Amino acid sequence: LLAGLRSERFSPRLAVIPDGEAHKTLKTVQTLYIQCLKSRLDRRSALVALGGGVVGDMTGFAAATYMRGIPFVQCPTTLLSMVDASIGGKTGVDLPEGKNLVGAFWQPRRVWMDLSVLKTLPDREWRTGVAEVIKYGLMADEGILRILESIDLAELRRRADLQEDIVSRSARIKARIVSEDEKETSGRRELLNLGHTFGHAIESVSGYKTYTHGEAISIGMAAAARLSVRLKTFRSPDVRRLELLFQRWGLPVRARRPLPRKRIWEAMSRDKKAFSGRFRFIVPLGRGRARAVTRVPFPLLNQTLKEVGL
Ligand SMILES: NC(=O)c1ccc[n+]([C@@H]2O[C@H](COP(=O)([O-])OP(=O)(O)OC[C@H]3O[C@@H](n4cnc5c(N)ncnc54)[C@H](O)[C@@H]3O)[C@@H](O)[C@H]2O)c1
Ligand SMILES: [Zn+2]
Repeated sequence: LLAGLRSERFSPRLAVIPDGEAHKTLKTVQTLYIQCLKSRLDRRSALVALGGGVVGDMTGFAAATYMRGIPFVQCPTTLLSMVDASIGGKTGVDLPEGKNLVGAFWQPRRVWMDLSVLKTLPDREWRTGVAEVIKYGLMADEGILRILESIDLAELRRRADLQEDIVSRSARIKARIVSEDEKETSGRRELLNLGHTFGHAIESVSGYKTYTHGEAISIGMAAAARLSVRLKTFRSPDVRRLELLFQRWGLPVRARRPLPRKRIWEAMSRDKKAFSGRFRFIVPLGRGRARAVTRVPFPLLNQTLKEVGL
């Protein structure tokens, strides 16, 4: 990347930040500001985020705030950040009290992806990205589900044509929905949270250790599909189909170990999507459609949690 930028007569400087969600903090962003100052970046400079979602979210936030905002470019290097985190302009950091609690909407000028970087991505990170791809299939493009039903991870790792198909379809869906509802005010963007109310609760109650994000939202999507069956807006055979697909990709559909249900409830009511304490879920409707539901009767929800082992 540095060589490429130099050959285009830019003079890039390199800033390296420590790896992992634990470092997605204001403290790390502050080290970025200082490196920007030392490199004499001004308002005509730009930041380039080369890395996964953690790097993208923090670089974006630094760009949104350094000198009141400078341009930035996303170069996502994980499947998850290619299909999700790098698109849509949500930037930010975590607080000890919770994930993504401080941030800004700040759109990247460009999102550049080079699929060849995925060669070194560990299998578990591939799977976590595939969980988001399944989400797009479920809410917007059934064709994606059919592709994923006919291949496995080994084949996807090998075949650049399939990677390109899956990444570009997913990225387009995300970009389309975000451009319809950039700041999540009309309800369109909210549909991208399919499986995430349950998923975020699972991640937070298990202390972000047991499950990757993709694993947690897989259980969450299985729960959302089961809830939809109970609301008579989804068919049970489609739940089975979905669960087989998750299993094919090594993604869980039930909690590996029960989690205290009371804490799951608490975590769900703290979710950003819960308006004035009322739960809000996105459920699949079949054929690549989804919708938000509120006022779900308590016993239905309780049954659903039980069914996925929570
Ligand atoms: N802004 C958004 O809209 C949005 C959406 C979804 C997720 N996110 C955020 O994204 C983050 C998760 O992103 P992620 O899943 O990319 O995690 P990540 O950035 O932590 O990357 C996962 C791991 O893969 C490594 N890695 C990255 N690229 C690699 C490559 N090509 N080869 C080998 N290893 C590589 C990283 O060093 C890291 O250890 C979370 O902080 C989440 O909140 C943001
Ligand atoms: Zn997600």
